Amino acid sequence: MTTALPATPTRRDFLFVATGAVAAVGAAAVTWPFISQLNPDASAVAAGAPIEVDLAPIAEGQSIKVFWRGQPIFINHRTPEEIAFARNTDLQSLRDPQSDEQRVKAGHEQWLVVVGICTHLGCIPTYHQGDYQGWFCQCHGSQYDSSGRVRAGPAPANLALVPYDFLSDSKIVIGQTA
Ligand code: FES
Repeated sequence: MTTALPATPTRRDFLFVATGAVAAVGAAAVTWPFISQLNPDASAVAAGAPIEVDLAPIAEGQSIKVFWRGQPIFINHRTPEEIAFARNTDLQSLRDPQSDEQRVKAGHEQWLVVVGICTHLGCIPTYHQGDYQGWFCQCHGSQYDSSGRVRAGPAPANLALVPYDFLSDSKIVIGQTA
């Protein structure tokens, strides 16, 4: 089930993916919302088992949210403009200096995978808001750019990275690296 957010100030959708594109590794295809079901697959996911995510349905410019280890994980299919914005950044100007290249997989620069929790006090930032082609945290005004790096507000650090690997060009596994 995929549900678009209610009215957002941008024209692109932010998708919540609770199932369909996501399956616990090694499990059969899951066709119902996993996080609200008390089934073994949900338990495995809640316990931190790796999850596979199908990237194919995520259009360029869209972001989805999945859950892994009880945390929201943002998966962004970045546009060329968002990638360029992230890469044309003076690292000296960053509070938590990190290049975009350090935050994505080489050859898959269009995909950004980060923990969707503000590093200030733990709110969930909103995508496609703020001044940096990334996220805005409504709680106290922190802003993150298209690489998930903090650019404004009280947050002390970038959105955290997640261990993941590509199984193919259109599928990743979160929680497991080669
Ligand atoms: S929790 Fe995000 S700015 Fe405070």
